[in-house]
Amino acid sequence: MSFVLTVNGRTCSVSSDADAPLLTVLRDELQLAGPKYGCGHGECGACMVWIDGQPRTACNLPLWAVQGKAVTTVEGLGTPERPHPVQAAFIAGNAAQCGYCVAGIVMSAAALLERNPAPDRAAIVQALDPHLCRCGAHNRMIRAVQCAAIAATIESKAT
Ligand code: FES
Repeated sequence: MSFVLTVNGRTCSVSSDADAPLLTVLRDELQLAGPKYGCGHGECGACMVWIDGQPRTACNLPLWAVQGKAVTTVEGLGTPERPHPVQAAFIAGNAAQCGYCVAGIVMSAAALLERNPAPDRAAIVQALDPHLCRCGAHNRMIRAVQCAAIAATIESKAT
């Protein structure tokens, strides 16, 4: 059976089983390697994507559950020429160590700024709490999200 998905604004047909995890479909069938496999149980956040704009772990989300919904991965958040403010801040702040968890964290941070453009530190910590980072780069990540919030505010006032 084939499923029609909307991923990063593009409609695509996939042939995986209905119960296949979205993460597997994204990585193996659509070649989107941004979302990572960590725990496979919705516990580490490495596979975080957006479903209709809301952050969700893709490793425990069956394909059938996302049919007709908009899936966004870190690849769809910005472009190399025009990165999302969170992506730009993570790059500028060197807010990663090994980088394995970062794509998922960027997705949660960007979702936070969508619903709260000026989060305080506690709100950022809470938003990133579902994510595990074994390198301990949390402080740089929190600073990057703070910088992204400031940059996004400046950008929105300029446009
Ligand atoms: Fe999905 Fe860990 S791999 S939450």
